[in-house]
Amino acid sequence: MTDIITISERSLHRASDILAAGGLVAFPTETVYGLGANACDGKAVAGIFAAKDRPSFNPLISHVASRDAAFRLGIETKLADILARCFWPGPLTLVLNRQPDCPVALLTTAGLDKIAVRVPANKHAQRLLQICDMPIAAPSANPSGRISPSTADHVHAGLAGKIDLILDGGPCEDGLESTIIDCSGSAPVLLRPGGIARAAIETALQSAGVTVALIDAQTINKQTSDSQTGDPQQPVAPGQLRSHYAPEAGVRLNATTASATEELIGFGPVAGAGQLAMSFSQTADLREAATNLFAMLHQADAVTAGTGRTIAIAPIPDDGIGEAINDRLRRAAAPRD
Ligand code: TXA
Ligand code: MG
Repeated sequence: MTDIITISERSLHRASDILAAGGLVAFPTETVYGLGANACDGKAVAGIFAAKDRPSFNPLISHVASRDAAFRLGIETKLADILARCFWPGPLTLVLNRQPDCPVALLTTAGLDKIAVRVPANKHAQRLLQICDMPIAAPSANPSGRISPSTADHVHAGLAGKIDLILDGGPCEDGLESTIIDCSGSAPVLLRPGGIARAAIETALQSAGVTVALIDAQTINKQTSDSQTGDPQQPVAPGQLRSHYAPEAGVRLNATTASATEELIGFGPVAGAGQLAMSFSQTADLREAATNLFAMLHQADAVTAGTGRTIAIAPIPDDGIGEAINDRLRRAAAPRD
């Protein structure tokens, strides 16, 4: 059962309690309805991927109530400062380098060292974020591949029974997703066109004295695929990331036993082996595995670094979010450039 409730101070507190306990709540923003979870709780975020049946772990936007809260998660740059002053709160998402002490779960950023942050303008979203006092990871609240929802009824039609609560704040003002700009480097990169037009971004930057032009992510992607020598520091458009998280050590998939030189990460009946003997999930719980995925790859990487040992990984079923887990594991195991 998924309740739809009209937004009130009381229902916002109920939503906040559900989010704090690791639940999933759909809420309105000025762009589209978001499917929210506590961005710092990997298991809750895994629930978003499961509910949406999202085929791979595309990184999620972390929503916060203020620019100060946003820059506590991602490192502020001059470009970010300019755009935040002009367009926040509003339909703009900034991609920044993660702060060293950023509390957001690795799964939220899909193992990347960059984080997408947004301060929404919708008054109900603002109030919810103030009450929660934690970053809320939220993709659009629709099953993967379906149309984005601009009313609570759209959310209900797609996700009823899979999420804990839908907050009804009426139709979204804009109905179009946020514009995403990577501001982590010296040149701004348009990753996704959206609610704020390119010309408005360019005008804001020029008025603030920025002389470097706004780069189109598609240009970078084309150069990258043409030459196959893309600079890994260069941002690429969402969904186009060639390698999300590749450990230093080689990775062997579908391993049921470990050789003497391998660190085996287990799953279900295949127990972990080696120095850490970790398991993505001893009970074969795919949500738990999703939560542990990036953190355990990091740990296995650290323990094998400089030893010549490699990483082996137990088979993971392709059901549900298992497909996303296997997608990421294949990237980790793919031959390196
Ligand atoms: O308007 C919006 O942005 C809505 C509302 C709910 O805020 N959210 C939304 O989320 O559209 P979603 O998940 O449907 O799209 C987010 C996009 C994805 O294409 C993802 O690849 C990109 O943001 N993204 C998130 N984190 C990123 C990162 N660290 N680097 C590059 N792209 C990122
Ligand atoms: Mg979407």
